[in-house]
Amino acid sequence: MQKNRQLLWLIGVMLAGCLQAQPPVIDSKMNAFVDGLMSRMTLQEKIGQLNLLSVGFDVTGPQLSQDADAKVRQGLVGGVFNTYTPVAVRKLQAQAVKESRLGIPLLFGYDVIHGHKTIFPMPLGLACTWNLDSIERSARIAANEATADGLTWTFSPMVDIARDARWGRIAEGAGEDPYLGAQIARVMVHGYQTGDLSQSNAMMACVKHFALYGAAEAGRDYNTVDMSRRQMYEYYLPPYLAAVEAGAGSVMSSFNEVDAVPATANRWLLTDLLRTQWGFQGFVVTDYTAINEMSEHGMGDLRMDAQLALKAGVDMDMVGETYLKYLPELVAKNAISESQINQACRRILEAKFKLGLFADPYHGCTEERARTEILTPENRQAAREIAAQSFVLLKNDQKILPLRKSGTIALVGPLADDQQNLLGSWRAAGDWRQAVSVQWGISNVAGSAVTILSAKGANLVDDPALRATLKAFGAEIPVDARSPQEMVNEAVAAANRADVVVAVLGESSAMTGEAASRSDLGLPENQKDLLRTLVATGKPVVLVLMNGRPLTLGWESEHCGAILETWFGGTEAGNAVADVLFGDYNPSGKLTATFPRSVGQIPIYYNHKNTGRPYKGDPAFKYASRYLDVPNDPLYAFGYGLSFTTFSYGDIKLNKTALADDETLLASVSLTNAGERAGEETVQLYLSQPIASVTRSVEDLRGFQQVRLQPGETKEVTFRITPEDLKFYNAKLEYDWEPGAFIVRIGGNSSQVKSATVNWHKKPVALNPSATIRPLAKGSE
Ligand code: BGC
Repeated sequence: MQKNRQLLWLIGVMLAGCLQAQPPVIDSKMNAFVDGLMSRMTLQEKIGQLNLLSVGFDVTGPQLSQDADAKVRQGLVGGVFNTYTPVAVRKLQAQAVKESRLGIPLLFGYDVIHGHKTIFPMPLGLACTWNLDSIERSARIAANEATADGLTWTFSPMVDIARDARWGRIAEGAGEDPYLGAQIARVMVHGYQTGDLSQSNAMMACVKHFALYGAAEAGRDYNTVDMSRRQMYEYYLPPYLAAVEAGAGSVMSSFNEVDAVPATANRWLLTDLLRTQWGFQGFVVTDYTAINEMSEHGMGDLRMDAQLALKAGVDMDMVGETYLKYLPELVAKNAISESQINQACRRILEAKFKLGLFADPYHGCTEERARTEILTPENRQAAREIAAQSFVLLKNDQKILPLRKSGTIALVGPLADDQQNLLGSWRAAGDWRQAVSVQWGISNVAGSAVTILSAKGANLVDDPALRATLKAFGAEIPVDARSPQEMVNEAVAAANRADVVVAVLGESSAMTGEAASRSDLGLPENQKDLLRTLVATGKPVVLVLMNGRPLTLGWESEHCGAILETWFGGTEAGNAVADVLFGDYNPSGKLTATFPRSVGQIPIYYNHKNTGRPYKGDPAFKYASRYLDVPNDPLYAFGYGLSFTTFSYGDIKLNKTALADDETLLASVSLTNAGERAGEETVQLYLSQPIASVTRSVEDLRGFQQVRLQPGETKEVTFRITPEDLKFYNAKLEYDWEPGAFIVRIGGNSSQVKSATVNWHKKPVALNPSATIRPLAKGSE
């Protein structure tokens, strides 16, 4: 008996050993294949794999790649981006596989950011859905369309945390919160990649911009970033980590510096953190000419930059061609070793293997697929539904909304019948002619029972200097032949004849996104003038906003009857806006970036610290942390968003108020739909720990649930909270929790919550110095 047990144990141990020692079948197949291939490659061909060129339809950076065809034939290109359509991809791929010596297929990359041809809301808008299924669905549809069009690699998700709305690229991420940002990063990677990259409708994700790009000083794009390690770990790194843990195949290094070393030359970032601590297995590509830009950062000449980048852990050089040019001589001079090049080359060949490109270099793209799988009615329907979910109702006095499907609407504003801006700044392959304008959407939804009096009212941008800059950047900024006054007069005449005014105002999409920082976050002055005149007519005014960032809306929030934030809603934006205006969809979006009252409050974000002199509301007390001329609180807080119904929250009920380490806290609230329409509420859970070994945020989002309720219906919403949810990075960068009092907050936004306090005890841990230091992955014990 004893012997049998021992034998069984031995077999068990051996089996476990085998399982551990043996790489999975795909890995061993891949390793054998890549070994064989690399044994036949010259040094120059290996370096060629590290070269990514911009070839084709779009210009997304300052420099263009030259002589691509010849380089592809010589095996000097690992991948290209900005080329799509089955015809173009097949042509170029055929050159690589049929005309280069070893026939290694190319990667075809592209900025498929929020849809390929069916464009979904811009990413900040997508995040405002708080609906992870919808976000994953949008990424899945994007990947399906993009792969049908020949692409295998997307430069998405962009997971940079941003607390500064001056930064135009706040449009491209999920907002200011690391917890929500991490969830979104994870589902987007799944949506693009599925579980199996070799599927013809799966594409490889590229997490960007690693790292901290969203913390550019003063919100000026490409500007310096400087922050403490704890700040990085606690607030900025979690979404990148989540994407890596979700299996993202590639990571893009950012333009900014990290700890005074450009990210692209930062070995701590790209190797120690990313690979050693996080276990990243894919490859690292630079952002557009980021290696070359290291000269401007002050890192030395291009030769030095290439050397620094490779040594830091950059595998692929986007557009800059520094690797192609300098790595051969750097190897010859022993400044870098061939094994470093081998490692980078291997990672890129592995990505191609995982994508199945050695078996099918075209990854299943055909003209037939492109014809039947792109911009389908189903995809457009999904875009319409998801766009409606992304809109945030900021104000709705006296239930102006929803509108009746009868009567007369004055539809005013430069964006009311616009198609060009709806796709946002990262339209990429999106065709604006496919986009549904608001005017068109209103006709579709309300039909002939509603009379629309339309008037442009103002140009999108009247400021000549700004218009000239945007035009120089290639934007279309149409200017009406009429004078501003004539346009306003027409709008006022329409308003006077209407029951309600719907004013569709905002930014040009060219005022948002990359290289589009702003110092003034108001509506353009001429549009504000128009709005003031419309409000002065005394007619109820519904302001429909289209913009890429939180705006300062003090005057608007006081004087407009209703405000609906619709971001840049994508191909189906107009239909979705109409669905919400007429109540066919009850708005449910909640802000994921704080709306300041004034630019002077920036950076403003909900998870700030308390400070030693917090302002407690006594205006006569001088020495508190506050402004003389503006309150501390934002105009619209993180998590805020109204519905056409109202939700009432009961007090928090707890299963216990004193807990031991291994216990789970159940915190519940009764949520009631106290209005007359069915609606969906995103119930948010925030935790705070007022006393800890380091200063903590006043609160941190730690959970959320979406609940749909019929009028009068009540549901119990319960959050399960474990010590895992209490963890944070302490001063030694250990990710752990500390015992003490915790405030549990549950509510419909970060500033309106019910709260309750618990005490969590922790057994003292026996000292084991090696066990504690783990500045690594959240959740992995
Ligand atoms: C942007 C990246 C983008 C790349 C390729 C860069 O300028 O920063 O986000 O993926 O261009 O288009």
